[in-house]
Amino acid sequence: MRPSSNIYPPQARVDVGAFLARVRELVDEQLDLLVPAESAAPEEVHAAMRWSLFAGGKRLRPALVVAAGETCGADVEHLLTTACAYELIHTYSLIHDDLPAMDDDDLRRGRPTCHVEFGEATAILAGDALQALAFQIIAEDEALRNAVRTRLIAELARAAGTPVGMVAGQAFDLAAEEREVDDAELEAIHQHKTGALITAAARAGAHIAEANKIKLAVITAYAEHLGLLFQITDDLLDVTSTAADLGKTPGKDARARKATYPALYGLEAARARARLVYMRALGALDQTAHPTVMLRALARFILERQA
Ligand code: IPE
Ligand code: IPE
Ligand code: MG
Ligand code: MG
Ligand code: MG
Repeated sequence: MRPSSNIYPPQARVDVGAFLARVRELVDEQLDLLVPAESAAPEEVHAAMRWSLFAGGKRLRPALVVAAGETCGADVEHLLTTACAYELIHTYSLIHDDLPAMDDDDLRRGRPTCHVEFGEATAILAGDALQALAFQIIAEDEALRNAVRTRLIAELARAAGTPVGMVAGQAFDLAAEEREVDDAELEAIHQHKTGALITAAARAGAHIAEANKIKLAVITAYAEHLGLLFQITDDLLDVTSTAADLGKTPGKDARARKATYPALYGLEAARARARLVYMRALGALDQTAHPTVMLRALARFILERQA
């Protein structure tokens, strides 16, 4: 007999590509139903929302809602609306991040950015409407218990706003263009601008599964490391990748004097930091006997991603 009785040995393989494809298909189908048609007034705003939303994108935040939720025992039908809400907030954040007043980018998800295609006013409004729609669809999701819905809305708001969420991180990111930051500040920028939403996405899945405190703490610790890992790899790809692979213009961080891991430490040390943070994400999952094979595979996908 083999010595290990664990049905999910650490080396177990799951097909993360197939999982992401399944999430993408389900989420995109649902988003198409939830977002107003281009034929509805104001047509320009709806066209701009759809332009940015359906341009591709990895759907990583929805995937985390689903992976964490399924890991904790929820059905995908109960996870889907919240997964869409996270994608709506994320896409809004990209539209505003690309504006001339912020990162001033003209390529996103392989096409001209929203403001380049539709003008700044429409892009701002499209972002605003995507954000509002995110909260609306969770509030109206009658498949969820009221207490769960309220918690999801509160945590999404907290993760999207200030002082601990994405908007705070974006403000810190812009401020850091003007001055040097140290290691702790750089980590704080990344945890706010990117980590907060990623952590809340994983926690949302756990909330929908009505996971106990111990499972929630494990998922939270894992996702905090994952969020940092995600932004470190984003920083690395800005240096090492191409517009064709990224669907956005590389090299912009250095030109804007952004605070990034490669800028602060160089490529090799930034790569080493990514591996360390990846190991920490896996280490967080070691705290549970629950099968976490998909969460592990997603962490590896983020570590090794090329886009
Ligand atoms: C880009 O996010 C912005 C960051 C938070 C780093 P993604 O790399 O997830 O972008 P899409 O959704 O795949 O386009
Ligand atoms: C963006 O970070 C984080 C948010 C959109 C909140 P970046 O500015 O590095 O993202 P990219 O590289 O433009 O996608
Ligand atoms: Mg930015
Ligand atoms: Mg940017
Ligand atoms: Mg970037």
